[in-house]
Amino acid sequence: MIEKTAKPFLRWAGSKKKLLPILNSYWNNADRYIEPFVGSARFFFHLNPQSAILGDINLDLINCYNVVKTKPLELYKKLELIPRDKDTYYSVRNSDEKAMSHVDQAARFIYLNRLCFNGLYRTNQQGKFNVPFGGIKAGNFPTKEDYLHLSDKLKGVKILNLDFEKLIISNVKKGDFIYLDPPYAVKNKRIFKQYDPTNFGTEDLERLFSLLDYINSKNAKFLLSYAFCEELEEQASKWNSEVVTTQRNIAGFASKRKKEKEFIISNI
Ligand SMILES: C[S@@+](CC[C@H](N)C(=O)[O-])C[C@H]1O[C@@H](n2cnc3c(N)ncnc32)[C@H](O)[C@@H]1O
Repeated sequence: MIEKTAKPFLRWAGSKKKLLPILNSYWNNADRYIEPFVGSARFFFHLNPQSAILGDINLDLINCYNVVKTKPLELYKKLELIPRDKDTYYSVRNSDEKAMSHVDQAARFIYLNRLCFNGLYRTNQQGKFNVPFGGIKAGNFPTKEDYLHLSDKLKGVKILNLDFEKLIISNVKKGDFIYLDPPYAVKNKRIFKQYDPTNFGTEDLERLFSLLDYINSKNAKFLLSYAFCEELEEQASKWNSEVVTTQRNIAGFASKRKKEKEFIISNI
């Protein structure tokens, strides 16, 4: 029997593992699930939606989802061939992914993600991944069975490399369930957007707030999770909201896990 849930194949900052029971309590078995800030897709893999759209602005990440979906065994075999040690990590990190096939690009991305410090995604001004080695223990690679299972879960799922606003405006329809889990916005992030489009600024947060009205006007449901902060208080009072305490994995080590407050805002 095929397991209904799956574990993400990536480590991802802001992954919602600890929040799953709360998120789950909002799930209404909608016909279609949409997640425009997909990251490691923790909630999607936990659910078993009939149909789904997953999106992210990170092109390398979206390429990974497409390769896991369509070529899981080829990908697994490539990953098995790369030695897991510090020297190889840095030579993989220095390799030029632009010259590679999509499968090699995905293998490189997953390899670096599993072995980098904290599962962080960070690039330099030239757009090159620059996170240091995190140690062998950092990376538990998915098995062959995991990849086959993940590929199965992604069958029929539309995977898009788009900005969240474009994805929602061009897709949302009545009855959709949209889970929004944006990065935490920091002032002046616009400047850094030039070389890293995944940077999320306060102006992006304003675009997101307008979208909540848009989604609601389409008779679709949204669920937004976001760090407890002043900027969100007005939105929280406008919609249904609760504040929950969750354990956030700040630095990937048990000693650095902090309890944090999180807003859950929805029109459900
Ligand atoms: C907090 S993470 C999502 C974590 C995810 N819920 C999980 O379980 O791993 C936020 C994601 O938003 C993406 N992102 C940042 N800006 C975006 C934008 N303008 N449009 C779409 N995705 C964006 C980032 O690349 C990142 O993967």
